[in-house]
Amino acid sequence: MKVLVVGGGGREHALCWKLKRSDSVDEVICAPGNPGIKREARCINIGAEDIDGLMQLARDEQPKLVVVGPEVPLVLGLADKLRAEGFAVFGPDQAAAELEGSKSFSKALMDEAGVPTALFETHTDPDQAEAYIRQVGAPIVVKASGLAAGKGVIVAQTEEEAIEAARDMLAGNSFGDAGSQVVIEEFLEGEEASCLFIVSGDTILPLASSQDHKALLDGDQGPNTGGMGAYSPAPCVTDAVEQEVLETIAKPIIAALQARGANFIGTLYAGVMLTKNGLKTLEFNVRFGDPECQPLMSRLKSDLGEVLLAAAESRLDGVSLDWDSRKALCVVVSSDGYPAEFEKGQTIAGIDAVEQAGTTVFHAGTAEKNGHIVNSGGRVLGVTALGETVQEAQQTVYKALKNLDWDGGFYRKDIGYRAIEREQNS
Ligand code: AMP
Ligand code: GLY
Repeated sequence: MKVLVVGGGGREHALCWKLKRSDSVDEVICAPGNPGIKREARCINIGAEDIDGLMQLARDEQPKLVVVGPEVPLVLGLADKLRAEGFAVFGPDQAAAELEGSKSFSKALMDEAGVPTALFETHTDPDQAEAYIRQVGAPIVVKASGLAAGKGVIVAQTEEEAIEAARDMLAGNSFGDAGSQVVIEEFLEGEEASCLFIVSGDTILPLASSQDHKALLDGDQGPNTGGMGAYSPAPCVTDAVEQEVLETIAKPIIAALQARGANFIGTLYAGVMLTKNGLKTLEFNVRFGDPECQPLMSRLKSDLGEVLLAAAESRLDGVSLDWDSRKALCVVVSSDGYPAEFEKGQTIAGIDAVEQAGTTVFHAGTAEKNGHIVNSGGRVLGVTALGETVQEAQQTVYKALKNLDWDGGFYRKDIGYRAIEREQNS
């Protein structure tokens, strides 16, 4: 079959890479794609947020399956429009995508469904936000309700920092419209994990577990980013934890969406925290995690095209997933300065040598200029390897990265450290 993938980041590169290796798939096309995706797919320069352009592309190309990678087109209703014209789509409708598009909606639905999450209030008035922050005390977490590419969350150590963040968001300074509502919530302590599910109607199929590193700097210091590296599986997600996330988080939230008339077809991403007081949901996303998708696709042995088509055609029941027993680890190379301002257009050399050293390099924010690969986004490359242990996979990636020739790049040096500590202690 012919598959159209929407998006052009590291996640979409991993999806295209895996789809190309699926027996069920003859051709992958990708809009807009990127220079790395070009190796796997025919790239068409239509932006992932150009809904009319993407609709016309689907009409022209008649793919058997459309896979929508990022959240923005889902929140804009791309899946609804495609389905209305008869296309098989992997990605939820707009009403279900609100689960990610609005943190205030998502928290309210968690409350309604009895899904465990941090105590919170939603505010639009800066003075009321301040009063709530004073009442709860620090540390405390302030979140822009709308989409902010993973950067709209401030974990504040003092009340003053939280108040300033809330005021900044509500005044529209930091995140525009996305910050016109803020969710202020209790600070949770524990280990985080990403629990993803392929969902189609009542069928909820767990993917292997993974763990992201959202903070910019080693030791989980510094500002939040979209994710600086990930690995799979996450040892803190035992079979019992996986079962609990399925029963107490995924099933009730999907049922609550259904009760509102929103049918979910796509990836449900539950970001969870394992706290002393049990599991808590940090957030929901309605698409694969980026960079979690890179290690997940590296480990998936099943035919991805078949699985996603089965979900899109509401016949996921009975489908199971087969995983490589090895561990996979992905280190994100970002542009120096990210998640704030950074300089684009710098030449990146040595990518082939990084791959020849036993890794797969998924492209995220890259472009081509005069025959060279240059950086065009904050997160630029996702260097991924498999290993018998997380440590082995980590060593392969960091050794390979010595071949990367780019002064303006930055990466964390400790991706996977929690799992490696566990490996060393066992
Ligand atoms: P979110 O986008 O809501 O998952 O938040 C991004 C990151 O901020 C999470 O992955 C956590 O590392 C951190 N975070 C979010 N909410 C909380 C919370 N209530 N307590 C502590 N850390 C949090
Ligand atoms: N890596 C976190 C996310 O995709 O939201």
